[in-house]
Amino acid sequence: MRPQAVARGREEEMTKGMKRKIVMAVAMVGGLAGVTLAASAENAAPIKDPEIERTRQHIKMLDDVFKTAVVLIDETYVKHPSDPSAASAAKALFAAMKKNGWYDVRLIGLTDKVGDPDDEPKDAFEKTAAKRLRGGGEQAYEEILEKDGKRYLRMATGIPVVSENCVMCHAHFKGDKGNIGALSYTMPVVK
Ligand code: HEC
Repeated sequence: MRPQAVARGREEEMTKGMKRKIVMAVAMVGGLAGVTLAASAENAAPIKDPEIERTRQHIKMLDDVFKTAVVLIDETYVKHPSDPSAASAAKALFAAMKKNGWYDVRLIGLTDKVGDPDDEPKDAFEKTAAKRLRGGGEQAYEEILEKDGKRYLRMATGIPVVSENCVMCHAHFKGDKGNIGALSYTMPVVK
């Protein structure tokens, strides 16, 4: 069965009362910024549901804002290992977004040396995403979550070592060409 059909089938099942957890996982190949989301070899094209697509667009826009801001902060203000890191600024911003009831986004580390235990991949979604983004070379991974009758899009997007400056504090990033971190979003589906 084609995965889109699987998604539809599962949605029907859920309206029949199965309300918990994940409908389906879709892996996407290709960067979020600008690159068209292509279907991976053994997986499906992204789910074609207008609400999911709208939500995905929101996340892509936020992802671009956050990553641009973090790199700007890092390159402009962070000059010494003792300076407050852009990661701390990002985490303060994410906490405010969550507190204000918008959505949930977490910074996670994908290497075996994560500085703050809070930043380790936590649940099944983040652990799967970590494997796909770290080992699989994928740039984004998503799942749909159904909880208490509400749908959420969960998406993790990769963070590579974007600047020499990163190595000043994370020595083990040196020469690493893959994703060393990710942003993990849980966004209520936009109706
Ligand atoms: C000034 C030192 C410093 C610089 C420069 C720096 N970081 Fe960090 N980074 C930290 C600290 C400290 C933490 C843990 C912060 C926290 O969780 O509050 C962290 C956390 C992270 C995490 C979350 C995983 C973990 O280890 O906790 C990622 C991913 C990350 N940094 C990536 C980067 C990237 C990419 C760059 C370059 C753009 C960068 N960092 C530059 C100090 C730095």
